[in-house]
Amino acid sequence: MRLDKLVAEQTGSTRAAVKGLIQSGRVTVNGLVVKDGAKKVSEEEDEVALDGEVFRFQRFAYFMLNKPAGVVSATRDKADATVVALLDASDRKKRKLFPVGRLDKDTEGLLLITDDGMLSHQLLSPRKHADKLYFVRLTRDITKEEVALFASGMKVDEELTAMPAELRKLTEEERAVFFQGEDFAAAVTLCEGKFHQVKRMFAATGNEVLYLKRIAMGGVTLDPKLLPGQYRELSKEELDCLRMSVEHNSEDS
Ligand code: URA
Repeated sequence: MRLDKLVAEQTGSTRAAVKGLIQSGRVTVNGLVVKDGAKKVSEEEDEVALDGEVFRFQRFAYFMLNKPAGVVSATRDKADATVVALLDASDRKKRKLFPVGRLDKDTEGLLLITDDGMLSHQLLSPRKHADKLYFVRLTRDITKEEVALFASGMKVDEELTAMPAELRKLTEEERAVFFQGEDFAAAVTLCEGKFHQVKRMFAATGNEVLYLKRIAMGGVTLDPKLLPGQYRELSKEELDCLRMSVEHNSEDS
């Protein structure tokens, strides 16, 4: 790629501004000032910097959002605010970002947002078993029978027979970090994500979900510092964890 094109992409500056940056000697390639905007550089192999600050080339972007209630998991919607619109314009710039799967409008918690279609597809594939952990508030406490039904791969309704799922009470630590209060709260781990699945599973056992929050997906846990509506980039470790969660299970597919 031409150096001036690369600098324009990285800085969002106009062609004239980029020309000025390059000709004034503020841009270096592998530590050496380059004043020729037509010079060919490689994103993979060359270290390009502006005022000594090296550009980080990122093929894809990965964010974790603490989705608030009242916002839809879509890229655009006629009636409601979308999760993608919660991201700053500078993070959305030149990227076709989308949410990895959907949370209901009233569901809160971890929603990954990316432009990496392949990883998203893998995370959503039931054959890859990328676990999703939800915390729920219910109208009554969970029973042993309910736990066994969830574990058995229950028939939920005419359209859905669920894969085996784990249902348990919250630990003290989980309550302390995410879910204060003494009410009927439980944790559900699913390896699939059918429409309204958690709500439908509890409805099938005569219980009812009053509040639903996703806490983890593919081994990545919602950052408890993020308030509803806030987001941040995934760390390298979190991204590795997501990739491993789908690679690890690839033989099963
Ligand atoms: N299950 C549901 O019922 N709703 C969600 O938003 C996610 C899982």
